[in-house]
Amino acid sequence: MTTETFEPKSIVVTGGCGFIGSNFVHHVVRERPGVHVTVLDKLTYAGNPENIACLPADRVELVVGDICDAELVDRLVSEADAVVHYAAESHNDNSIADPSPFLKTNVRGTYTLIEACRKHDVRYHHVSTDEVYGDLALDDPARFTEETPYRPSSPYSSTKAASDMLVRAWVRTFGLRATISNCSNNYGPYQHVEKFIPRQITNLIDGVRPKLYGDGKNVRDWIHTEDHSSAVWAILTRGRIGETYLIGADGERDNITVLREILKAFGRDADDFDWVRDRPGHDRRYAIDSTKLRRELGWEPQRIDFAAGLAETIAWYRANESWWRPAKEATEARYRAQGQ
Ligand code: NAD
Ligand code: DAU
Repeated sequence: MTTETFEPKSIVVTGGCGFIGSNFVHHVVRERPGVHVTVLDKLTYAGNPENIACLPADRVELVVGDICDAELVDRLVSEADAVVHYAAESHNDNSIADPSPFLKTNVRGTYTLIEACRKHDVRYHHVSTDEVYGDLALDDPARFTEETPYRPSSPYSSTKAASDMLVRAWVRTFGLRATISNCSNNYGPYQHVEKFIPRQITNLIDGVRPKLYGDGKNVRDWIHTEDHSSAVWAILTRGRIGETYLIGADGERDNITVLREILKAFGRDADDFDWVRDRPGHDRRYAIDSTKLRRELGWEPQRIDFAAGLAETIAWYRANESWWRPAKEATEARYRAQGQ
């Protein structure tokens, strides 16, 4: 297979009002002047139209709707050169409390999109997660590669794994022009306050002690969301059809280390947090080997200074309280009910 160069003029971005999807839309508007973006987003609790409201109306259109709505999806896909699929139920803890929306959006929704892309022969990029590979032991020198067997642990990650499998089958059986990326943990602006880093930052702004699960030694491989966006664009335009690419920036850190960096930034003591109930089935460690993406497509992460990225993220949450405040109380009430 040869490396193709694909230059879409009009793309549908699903989930473009969520955390990573909206950062991708900002990236495309800034870096790709000739590209029009149609955002398809249901605006669940995790979607916020404010994330893209400042972008020019002639470059970005928001269509509020469900990726499971076959008629709507068919119309939008028929008018596009490509679909970049971010929309999902994305939070592990929620998937443990109630898996059902995860099945519908992550599996049925992906099926609806790839059926439309197949019908109209539209290029499709599938945004997925490293969690499909399960976890690694803390003392294991290995990292995930494109060859690692699927072994998802949570309702969330198993539905993402199912969606990846659908895409692979549609490529092989129907010739769908698709690529898949599996990325590690993102951080940056516009991330919902239910997630680890924003939850602790906003707790500290509120004078509440941060909450750490288990023994705090679980490792996540952090990447700035801007680096995720540049990788997805590289794969969409230059990736080989039918291939999977892992996205990561060598950012392994355990949770207690990240939390202590946040505490330090707030001038708080290193032990000024609460231990709370662990997540059932909590994955121990994720680690990405992104050699394939770097070698084949020449992609390199730019935002690799985690301390600088974290300081910027803290400053963003301090400056944008009106953005996160409406979600904070309901999120903490949900956690309290779960003992977390
Ligand atoms: P998010 O929860 O912040 O945003 C999800 C978005 O999808 C929201 O805007 C929501 O309204 C929308 N949505 C949900 N259900 C929908 C439906 N049925 N129809 C249309 N829109 C719907 O999620 P995120 O953290 O930005 O993750 C985006 C994607 O990236 C997901 O596919 C996730 O699996 C993947 N991913 C996330 C990370 C991470 O660290 N957050 C890492 C790797 C991969
Ligand atoms: O690896 C990619 C995945 O990263 C994505 O597929 C998911 O969509 C995204 O949510 C994220 O999943 P995690 O479960 O790793 O992220 P979360 O922010 O929920 O938790 C990060 C780590 O912090 C995890 O080990 C659990 C822990 N944690 C989380 C919260 C919310 C705590 O210790 N305390 C908390 O309050």
